[in-house]
Amino acid sequence: MSFKTIHLKWAALGLAVVSAIGAVADEAKRRHEGVATCASSLCHGSSQPLKAYESVLQNEYTTWSQFDLHSNAYKVLFNKQSQEIARRMGIGPAHEAPACLVCHSDAIPAAQRGVKFQLDDGVGCESCHGGSEKWLSTHYQVPKISRSENLARGLVALENPDTLAVTCLACHVGDKDRYANHRMMAAGHPRIVFELDTYLELWRTSGGREHYRKSAQTAHAALWAKGLIESSRRQLDLIDRHGAGRLGPIPDFGIYACHSCHRDLRLSAFGGSSYSLGGPGDLRWQDAHLLVLQQVSQALRLESSRPLHRAIIGLQRSANGDMASLKKALATTRDALLVTERELKGRSWSAAEMNAVVQALIDASRRGGFPDPAAAEQAAMGLVVMLAGLQLDRGKRAEIDRLFDDLRDDNAFDQRRFVKWMSVLGAR
Ligand code: HEC
Ligand code: HEC
Ligand code: HEC
Ligand code: HEC
Repeated sequence: MSFKTIHLKWAALGLAVVSAIGAVADEAKRRHEGVATCASSLCHGSSQPLKAYESVLQNEYTTWSQFDLHSNAYKVLFNKQSQEIARRMGIGPAHEAPACLVCHSDAIPAAQRGVKFQLDDGVGCESCHGGSEKWLSTHYQVPKISRSENLARGLVALENPDTLAVTCLACHVGDKDRYANHRMMAAGHPRIVFELDTYLELWRTSGGREHYRKSAQTAHAALWAKGLIESSRRQLDLIDRHGAGRLGPIPDFGIYACHSCHRDLRLSAFGGSSYSLGGPGDLRWQDAHLLVLQQVSQALRLESSRPLHRAIIGLQRSANGDMASLKKALATTRDALLVTERELKGRSWSAAEMNAVVQALIDASRRGGFPDPAAAEQAAMGLVVMLAGLQLDRGKRAEIDRLFDDLRDDNAFDQRRFVKWMSVLGAR
């Protein structure tokens, strides 16, 4: 099942009753006894829907374990995509990382895990229905023990749209403990899509089985509107938490409209992430000129070469750090530039030196040192300036044209072609 199949699944749309009023139980300390406690064939593990109760099909466990992606949410953390995300983020194995477990499992503290609780059940019954410590033995004794009494014992009133919305959106939009930040997205996490009514229906009928019956006319429009309001509210909370008031020069991009920056969400469109000195999705200051200057100073063996190199690294790290380190990095880089300027002043560029710069530019491009179109065009122009100084440009007009043709369209920038033409131009 995926977002793309929604329209197909939508045909199976059912109807429901929204009745009892409830509130989110204080989940804080209740023990979660584990999916296994629900799975008996006499309880919720029947292979077929039963008719003993109107609202309870008794095959919920079977449906969940075979058709509901939630039962797979933890296992997915072992797949290749998850391993890659975790590797890029540098957070250790995904299946052990709290950053992933908060949404991909029932990530309650160890003290709240009952004997049969298993993390690898992923998003299990109690992730939605609440920790069953106090209601497990009473919830099927209705009417002897009333529904409101079970709710008081911590059974979550999912029939209440407010409670339902809060439950799903906690993971599908985020809350104070759960947030799929920009670094995660840039490391390869799918952009999260959710609409309460559509996704509820998609999920309720996963695999063509019903998780629960819908018996009468329910206002899908009302649930849709409820979801829009509650999702918006949650988005505001995320903006509050991750957008404003951070110490650094930038907030987390994950709360902004992805497409305000991106036209393309493919990984490494420019092969740029490997260059990033921080984590995936980190910002870089514009540094195209600095990157080329660094190659010059290294090729000419200037004394400022090392300090300049270090300054550039510090500067780029500061793009995602705090204000104090940014100020310090700016000062250090200004100092390094002053020294470089002094060393370059009045220099007569020998042929050997220009050749060394040509070589340095080509080597750096091979190492991915000019990671985006802006840096690549600086390197290309520098290379041609040096070739002209060496009077080698005339015989290479066609190749030079090819190099700049390739650089004309930023969106078509191709690191490999760029490196190829740089190398061709540098060949004697
Ligand atoms: C805020 C909750 C949240 C967090 C945090 C989160 N995920 Fe997810 N993840 C989701 C949701 C929701 C989906 C389903 C996406 C959809 O269909 O919109 C998903 C989907 C995925 C998928 C694709 C699954 C598939 O079936 O194709 C992978 C892989 C994944 N997550 C891995 C991770 C990893 C690794 C981490 C930790 C670095 C992580 N997730 C953290 C909520 C989260
Ligand atoms: C993703 C959240 C989620 C998970 C996981 C989940 N449920 Fe549900 N369940 C719901 C929702 C929502 C309803 C519908 C509540 C309503 O409208 O009355 C529901 C309805 C039910 C019902 C019908 C009776 C009632 O309370 O409305 C039963 C029984 C049930 N679930 C059992 C289970 C069992 C057993 C598991 C685990 C094998 C499970 N559920 C896992 C969300 C979930
Ligand atoms: C504890 C976190 C959590 C809760 C609560 C939760 N989900 Fe999910 N949901 C996930 C994760 C993680 C995935 C992705 C699982 C995977 O692909 O392996 C997912 C997947 C889904 C999918 C499949 C999406 C796709 O792209 O195919 C649907 C539909 C869905 N959830 C609906 C719901 C609804 C409706 C609720 C509330 C009744 C809910 N979820 C509650 C974490 C959660
Ligand atoms: C304010 C601008 C901005 C916003 C908004 C933004 N991003 Fe990014 N994104 C970036 C930057 C900067 C990078 C790093 C690019 C690089 O490393 O070359 C990046 C990198 C990425 C990458 C990796 C691309 C690659 O080439 O490896 C992905 C995927 C991504 N973002 C997804 C998202 C998603 C999903 C959202 C919305 C939740 C989002 N971004 C919002 C600026 C933004």
